[in-house]
Amino acid sequence: MTRLFDNYRLGDIVLRNRMVMAPMTRARCVDTVASADTAEYYRQRATAGLIVTEGTPISPEGQGYAYVPGIWSKEQVAGWQTVTGAVHNEGGRIFSQLWHVGRLSHASLQPERQRPVSAGAVPAHEGKTFAFTDDGAVGFVDVTEPRPLSTEEVRRVIRDFVHGAVNASEAGFDGVELHAANGYLFEQFLNPSTNTRSDHYGGSIQNRARFLLETVDCVIEAVGSSRVGVRLSPFSELFDMPAYTEAADTYLYLASELSRRDLAYVHLVDQLPAGGRVLDVDFLKPFRAEYSGTIILAGGMTRELARDLAEMDLIDLAAFGQPFIANPDLVERMQNGWPQATPDRNSYYGGVGAEGYLDYPRFDPAYVQPTVPCA
Ligand SMILES: Cc1cc2nc3c(=O)[nH]c(=O)nc-3n(C[C@H](O)[C@H](O)[C@H](O)COP(=O)(O)O)c2cc1C
Repeated sequence: MTRLFDNYRLGDIVLRNRMVMAPMTRARCVDTVASADTAEYYRQRATAGLIVTEGTPISPEGQGYAYVPGIWSKEQVAGWQTVTGAVHNEGGRIFSQLWHVGRLSHASLQPERQRPVSAGAVPAHEGKTFAFTDDGAVGFVDVTEPRPLSTEEVRRVIRDFVHGAVNASEAGFDGVELHAANGYLFEQFLNPSTNTRSDHYGGSIQNRARFLLETVDCVIEAVGSSRVGVRLSPFSELFDMPAYTEAADTYLYLASELSRRDLAYVHLVDQLPAGGRVLDVDFLKPFRAEYSGTIILAGGMTRELARDLAEMDLIDLAAFGQPFIANPDLVERMQNGWPQATPDRNSYYGGVGAEGYLDYPRFDPAYVQPTVPCA
């Protein structure tokens, strides 16, 4: 795909290529503040046309994992300013992914060890999170049973998202992405198995989509539609989200509603069940018919898939996740056909320091791998 390396106008900004670094939680910020290491990590990857940061909680209540950098306090805004400055100095562009995990949290991460909140009181039976154990150590623990948000509290969470978006602007981000994918709070409202509400945020497709669309509208009002993206994972069953019959209609309804709002983009993520793709041409065609703006697709993306889908006019930008972990220079490697390094899954999350985070080298074409083993 030659167009993958062409620039692209996204709202008011120009991306220097069509490769997006997908949002990836790395859980390396001990005090919930983005650090000098965070800035260096994103700086190394700034040749991506667009970086979407790791999921960034908008409030203490929105946190589901230890060591994740938030965006609700002045201190956190200052931390992110060093990140956006480092990326912009390299000519890159960066959006902040605004996150509320809903029921996928543990009391040890919640204010006053309260129960996490959700659309209903349905726990994620298979849910584990990276939080504090009873003896204060950090490790994988079962999520805590949630309580439903009251109608008034839903409005308060919307205000928390607006606060996060305003903070992101202050921190110098080019825009924000609302994380409505992968089983977190927005998806807990979209899915009728987890949304058991009887107010106007539950019941019909329109009601279940209302929380997301009202949040989109309020965030647009605060920072402008060209600076707002939305991430969706249609048909995902990640984190104990059961399949439901109205899923296709729900996402096509969202496509048409979001299309009217003139956003920066919609970012689709395919969760790739064993044996193929969910977000194939059969889904992307009707989605494209409803949504006329920029579409990003992530999940097992390759240069060839990006080319084919772009040629069919089904996507505009291609997002890569894990390949960016091990290849800070992924753009140059793909452009030149250089080999890609394989990421070490053991160091995806947690820990402090550079290992598995800042120490993946750039490819050096002058260095020829020895072909004769040492005696
Ligand atoms: C370590 C890791 C952390 C992730 N964290 C997030 C996250 O914070 N927000 C999100 O929307 N997706 C997250 N994802 C999903 C990725 O954005 C991406 O959709 C997924 O890895 C599929 O793309 P890939 O096949 O190119 O890796 C994460 C994935 C990985 C591997």
